[in-house]
Order: sequence, then C-alpha cells, then structure tokens
Amino acid sequence: MSARKPIRKAVFPVAGMGTRFLPATKAIPKEMLPIIDRPLIQYAVDEAREAGIDQLIFVTGRGKTAIVEHFDTAFELEATMTERDKSLDVLEPTRILPGNLVTVRQQVPLGLGHAIWCARAIVGDEPFAIFLPDELMIGQPGCMKQMVEAYNAVGGNLISVLEVPENEVSSYGVIDPGQRGFGPGGALTEVRGLVEKPKREDAPSNLIISGRYILQPEVMRVLEHQGKGAGGEIQLTDAMAQMIGQQPFHAVTFAGKRYDCGSKTGFVEATLAIALEREDMRDEVRAMALRLLG
Ligand code: UTP
Repeated sequence: MSARKPIRKAVFPVAGMGTRFLPATKAIPKEMLPIIDRPLIQYAVDEAREAGIDQLIFVTGRGKTAIVEHFDTAFELEATMTERDKSLDVLEPTRILPGNLVTVRQQVPLGLGHAIWCARAIVGDEPFAIFLPDELMIGQPGCMKQMVEAYNAVGGNLISVLEVPENEVSSYGVIDPGQRGFGPGGALTEVRGLVEKPKREDAPSNLIISGRYILQPEVMRVLEHQGKGAGGEIQLTDAMAQMIGQQPFHAVTFAGKRYDCGSKTGFVEATLAIALEREDMRDEVRAMALRLLG
C-alpha cells in the first residue's frame, strides 16, 4: 500500500579526527577502537544490515584506510587460518557483497553536515540512513530497525532521541518536541525545532539526537548552502532544522541502551556493559569487577 521508497543506503561519516581519544587515535581511526573484539564500525554495520540496509557509504579522510580494510578479504590471514584448521566464521561479519561498500573522501573535516554532503552523488535521489559509529546503540531489535519501522508508518525524516540530564544538553543536538507518544510502540515525537549544542538555559528540552537518522535526499540541497554553526563546523542539525515545516519530521525514542563511545568514560561503560552481557565472559568479568570494587 505504501509508496514510500525503502531505505537501502546508509552513510557512515568516519572522517572526524577523534581528538578526545588522542594519542590512541593518532594512527588508528576512532571507529576501529574495539569494544571487546569488534571495532565500533562493525557494531554500526551490523545494525544497518539488521534493518535491511546493505549499501554502505563510508565518508572517510586521511588515515582511515583501516576501516575499509576491515571489510576487505584478508587473503593471507584466511589462507593461514585455513591451513591451521582454524574456523573462518569469526570473520563472517566483515564480509561485504562486492560493490556494496563505497567510500567517498571528506578532504577537510569541516563538520558532520559537510561529511554527509560529501556523499550526495552516491545517495542520489533516495531517502537514506546515517549512523555515527561512535554512538553504540544496543537493543532488540536494533535502533535502526526500530526507526525503519517508524519510517514505514510516517515517512519523511526521522532522528533517534533520548533523554539526558539537563546539565548535559549543551554537548548535543537538542529537539523542540511537539506532540508525543504516538506511532509504533508510542515511540514517536513530533519535532518542531532543532538546535545544536545550545546553552543549558536556551535548550528547548532535554531530548538529544543520538547518532541515528533517516533523511530525505533534499537535505543535500540544504547542506549545499549551509554555513558554519556551533564550533565553527557545518552542522547537520542546522540543515535538518530548515527542513522542519516543509517535510514531516519526527523523533523516535529508542527502546534500548546507548553508549557514547566518543567519550572515554562512555567507552569504558560500553565495554563493561557488553562484557557483562556476553555469555562467553560474563561470569569471569562480574567476578573481576566485584574484586576491583573491593
Ligand atoms: P565527533 O565530533 O563526535 O567526532 O563527530 P570527532 O571529530 O571524530 O571526535 P572528537 O570530538 O575530535 O573527539 C561525530 C561523527 O561525525 C564524523 C566523526 O567521524 C564521527 O563519526 N565527522 C565529524 C566527520 O566525518 N567529519 C567531520 O568533519 C566531523
């Protein structure tokens, strides 16, 4: 019945400099930092595939080739493992159908909005998803699958949101909420406005954008003329704000856990939380954590 175009493409902006993790991220991309045994980018790609999205667009920059290599065939490694009778199953998540991974280059990290705009020729005239891989979203189903479900109900543009304590709002994009609690699972909120990194007293709510988006291709036209915003960067939030009123714009409250792995403490929290959930290590890690806490 629905004439909505399906979401087939996902953009992963991975050209940022990761300054909060220096010196670890001097030669290694932030997105390759592992939570246990999988790099952050792997969790994001898994989440995209679970949502039925298989065309992956990486916006990369200097020093980011390891991300692309992670999804390449490692011929020598595989030959050696096979020779030694080691299972290759562990490499399965890194396999991409030939042609389904495209990279574009953001020559200078001018901001998230600019990074997305760099993918305009590959995105073309289709709605598309965006994943910020340093935001780790753990849920069943995953965050993007929940968003695609919402998209199938209301179409237009969608962002994933969550509540944070009021003293944290100025680090994020914040929404001005309208009607709340409708759509699939009551998870939808109408978005009336968006502001990037507001002062605490100017923030329209404590609902922040949390690293997952489904956007209509028109955002590329807006980004083309988008000037610098907060932090002197070309902000995606500012471009999205201009689309409100012209196209449907909703927020989806994610039913699940989100870890801000762009921050050091968020990264530690994610590592511990995931270790405590994994059957292969949870007992040992729990005992270890209790011992450390005395
Ligand atoms: P962040 O601001 O969290 O990432 O951008 P960063 O700049 O890499 O990290 P810090 O703040 O210096 O520690 C959010 C996402 O947008 C991408 C980043 O790679 C990250 O996935 N990004 C940001 C770009 O691709 N290009 C940019 O110009 C800016």
